[in-house]
Amino acid sequence: MEITSKLLPESDRKYSQIAGIKDLPFGQFRTDHMFLVDYKDGEWKNARIVPYGPIEMMPGAVSLHYGQTIFEGAKAFRHADGEIYAFRLDQNAKRMNVSAELICMQSISEELQVEGAMRLMDIDRKWCPDVPESSLYIRPFMFATEDALGVRPSREYKYCVILSPSGPYYAGGFNHSVRLLITDKYHRAVSGGTGASKTGGNYTASLKPGMVAKQCGASQVLYLDATNTYIEEAGAMNHFHIMKDGTVIIPEFTDSILRSITSISMIELLPTLGYKVRQERIAIKDFVAQIKSGDIIEAGGFGTAAVVSPVNEYVFDDGEILKVGNGEIGEHTRKIYEAYTAIQKGAAPDKFGWLKKVERY
Ligand code: PLP
Ligand code: COI
Repeated sequence: MEITSKLLPESDRKYSQIAGIKDLPFGQFRTDHMFLVDYKDGEWKNARIVPYGPIEMMPGAVSLHYGQTIFEGAKAFRHADGEIYAFRLDQNAKRMNVSAELICMQSISEELQVEGAMRLMDIDRKWCPDVPESSLYIRPFMFATEDALGVRPSREYKYCVILSPSGPYYAGGFNHSVRLLITDKYHRAVSGGTGASKTGGNYTASLKPGMVAKQCGASQVLYLDATNTYIEEAGAMNHFHIMKDGTVIIPEFTDSILRSITSISMIELLPTLGYKVRQERIAIKDFVAQIKSGDIIEAGGFGTAAVVSPVNEYVFDDGEILKVGNGEIGEHTRKIYEAYTAIQKGAAPDKFGWLKKVERY
């Protein structure tokens, strides 16, 4: 499908807003343009790049009432050669359609998703930051626009990509360790539900628990499955831990866990750094016992926004604190973070073919 564009004159573009900002916040800035495609009458049409701005929608739009929305999160990086490289955007496009299928939305061509985002980044390339731990965060999303109040899948959708020059997800970046709340009172997803889809409702479900976590001095919840037996996710990240012998363990993907592109990438990368890595069901009871015995020495979260976030403490509902190792950021977590971000930033060879240069269209 041809992508048309209606662009702002150079004099109205606002990329100088981020010039000289060393501590960019996460997700607060927007670039000058956005990519849009409409689904109506059984087909996707009118792929276009237009100035960033409000989108008109009927008050009866299905997404506003029943939350039929999905999103993705990807990143692009400015390399030393001045060019911009997107990281595994094809995987995000693929997962977008997995999410769509899980909540009865229309799939959209993966090639069109990638091309739309690449052209948008080309147009807004001056917004791509290059300060440490920064990236151009790519946020594709799709929402139901049909004006219909019956509870059923919408017959109309909008697909959109917006961009946000961003710093680290957790202020302080990698060097800021995260504390997670272990609780049996809240769950983000259940088996047979929508946890493996990046649908808005999963994030709505995490708001209250996230607030409770903050009241306990934690950044997020370590979500357990609905039977409170197994570890599932760490807020908006997959969880990982590292054993005394250096083995990295990630919870096995189930239908209530998001298939993290970061985790999948780590499963490829870690063996090349000399680490054993595996996925398994992790009983919370064993996890806690192994932290106490010192068999687990490091832990953290994997995710696009949060990259590799070290977890130094867990706190229980009753206030008891469980320290991981000596509570400092561990050497393995640091090595993994450095190796992964070196590839993203072009400081190490891209052996896996994860990066795609943003062309000048
Ligand atoms: N789990 C949840 C619930 C998330 O929202 C995210 C973020 O996208 C992740 C895990 C990490 O996935 P990815 O590495 O693909 O960003
Ligand atoms: C991401 O890591 O890209 C996410 O989607 C997490 C997000 C909810 C900020």
